[in-house]
Amino acid sequence: MMKKKTIVVASNNRGKIKEIKAILPDFEILSLKEAGIISNPDETEDTFEGNALIKAKDAKKFTQHMVIADDSGLEVYCLNYLPGVLSKRFYACINSSIIEDNQNSDSYDKLNTKALLKIMRNIKHENRDARFVSCVALIKEDGTHAVFYGECEGRILFESRGRLGFGYDPIFMPNGFNLSFAEMSEEQKNKISHRSAALNKLKEYLND
Ligand code: IMP
Repeated sequence: MMKKKTIVVASNNRGKIKEIKAILPDFEILSLKEAGIISNPDETEDTFEGNALIKAKDAKKFTQHMVIADDSGLEVYCLNYLPGVLSKRFYACINSSIIEDNQNSDSYDKLNTKALLKIMRNIKHENRDARFVSCVALIKEDGTHAVFYGECEGRILFESRGRLGFGYDPIFMPNGFNLSFAEMSEEQKNKISHRSAALNKLKEYLND
């Protein structure tokens, strides 16, 4: 049997690594830690693609193997695609009063969802359309690269629902479902998620 090719994922996020392993069973998947790499570059670009490439290129300096990195976020159409690349620290960008309110030591995820619900409180149901976007960057062994996009369309709820998942999952309901992402099992979410859509395109490319 041929030895599996190795892909280093420029992340230590266990959820992401698990999802990538499930989608790419024909490859040996290593996290940064498993590959013995320390890489945490500043994400200074203003696009998902730019930031995914920053992460992948930085990790590639330390390995001969292929590297993949993903950058993702939530785009709300009526907010001109915000939070977008600011998704991870959105609360800090918009309103310091939300942080001053933070008597319960809420996590970043909770602060972000609170901030988004607050600025959208007067926006009607029909104008709350949004999508998650994921961009996966691949740097091949020879240093050349390719990028793959995935999206998941849905809308922003008026309040949090569900306890599973992470980030904006409790306030995002994908189209065609009556469940928020945080009310879905990991398996169910991974079937329709933006990240799995991008990873499936990567898989097709690698198998060609
Ligand atoms: P990153 O791509 O891991 O840097 O993710 C950026 C941010 O986007 C996260 O911190 C979350 O706030 C948000 N995000 C990305 N993907 C998801 C998802 O599947 N569910 C909920 N939030 C997400």
